[in-house]
Amino acid sequence: MEIISLVDYSKDKKNILAQVKDIFFESAVRKEFTTDEDRNDYFKKWCGVYWDNYSCSFYLAMEDDHLVGYLSGCKKSLDSLSVLKMPGYAEFSDEFDNFPAHYHINCHHAKRGLGVGSKLDDHFCNVLRSEGIGGVFIITAPMSRPTSFYMKKGFNHSYTREIGSASLIFMGKRL
Ligand SMILES: CC(C)(COP(=O)(O)OP(=O)(O)OC[C@H]1O[C@@H](n2cnc3c(N)ncnc32)[C@H](O)[C@@H]1OP(=O)(O)O)[C@@H](O)C(=O)NCCC(=O)NCCS
Repeated sequence: MEIISLVDYSKDKKNILAQVKDIFFESAVRKEFTTDEDRNDYFKKWCGVYWDNYSCSFYLAMEDDHLVGYLSGCKKSLDSLSVLKMPGYAEFSDEFDNFPAHYHINCHHAKRGLGVGSKLDDHFCNVLRSEGIGGVFIITAPMSRPTSFYMKKGFNHSYTREIGSASLIFMGKRL
């Protein structure tokens, strides 16, 4: 398996974007969409915005020409608030000095539990360390299964907050 940044990927990007979408929608909690526009907006909000704006922090885990997972990252979360507009992120912005970067991660359903997610996390964290960025965070639902993955990967600083009617957990890792 090879991890490659989207900016360095020289093959067919349309094809890779289609594979990103397949993994994104298969992994997403939300399954119902009223229209194609609604579906496209959902993708754009949670993934496409990283593809468009932060391609140097968008990492592809490739096996031959097949995408087995991806990490959509952002190195400067504070600067990105107006671009990303994701619910809950602004409410944790007091933590962004300690944990400037964040990411989202999804693996192909047939490739989970095989170390792909771990390698994507290691890769992005090594890039951040090499650039002197001292921390990274994720935000998710507190009871979600992936919190165990993040705990294993060293995201030991956890804060849960009620945001509107939802409860969200911020998990930070110092680098
Ligand atoms: C969560 C996810 C990214 C983890 O990637 P992965 O490649 O499956 O995980 P790895 O094989 O690298 O596992 C690393 C460690 O985390 C643990 N782990 C991974 N996924 C886990 C899960 N869902 N629940 C509990 N533990 C998990 C593994 O057991 C492993 O522990 P070990 O080192 O003691 O063996 C991947 O399973 C996935 O895409 N899940 C569905 C989508 C999702 O939940 N994305 C995150 C949204 S917040």
